[in-house]
Amino acid sequence: MSKEHPLSPEKVEKVFLSLAAAMLLVFLLALFYSAYAMGMHLPGRDGEINPTMVRETPPFDEPGLKQIEPGRYEAVFLGMAWAFQPREIRIPAGAEVTFITTATDVIHGFHIEGTRVNLMMIPGQIGRATYTFTEPGEHLIICHEYCGAGHHLMYATVIVE
Ligand code: CUA
Repeated sequence: MSKEHPLSPEKVEKVFLSLAAAMLLVFLLALFYSAYAMGMHLPGRDGEINPTMVRETPPFDEPGLKQIEPGRYEAVFLGMAWAFQPREIRIPAGAEVTFITTATDVIHGFHIEGTRVNLMMIPGQIGRATYTFTEPGEHLIICHEYCGAGHHLMYATVIVE
């Protein structure tokens, strides 16, 4: 007289298969939600320039902050071994800043702490990301791509006033 166990191997397998399928579905939905509802996307290339003529090519011939209209700015950043140019920008709280970046020598990283701005600075390629700084404070910009002996010295600052 044996009673069948409620969790037969077939049943357990079915449960695991449905769990795996449900997880895939959840991940896929999360991906679509972040891409379409939250507007997230990979920081892609935004054009190409001649990497040997960076300092002669607009807008990189004038690195720094430029006001486009009230509350909106454009910040052109160059990455080089081992510094960012400019080293510091100051903006009022609430400002929307579009960062336009490239590198003059090797690959660098461009991450603004406390924000989702995270770009690769690649020679010959233009990076672009927009962010609105709502709170006053300081954000460090760091190079997150190993670029040689001075990699750890490479930083700049965003000051939100
Ligand atoms: Cu530039 Cu690390």
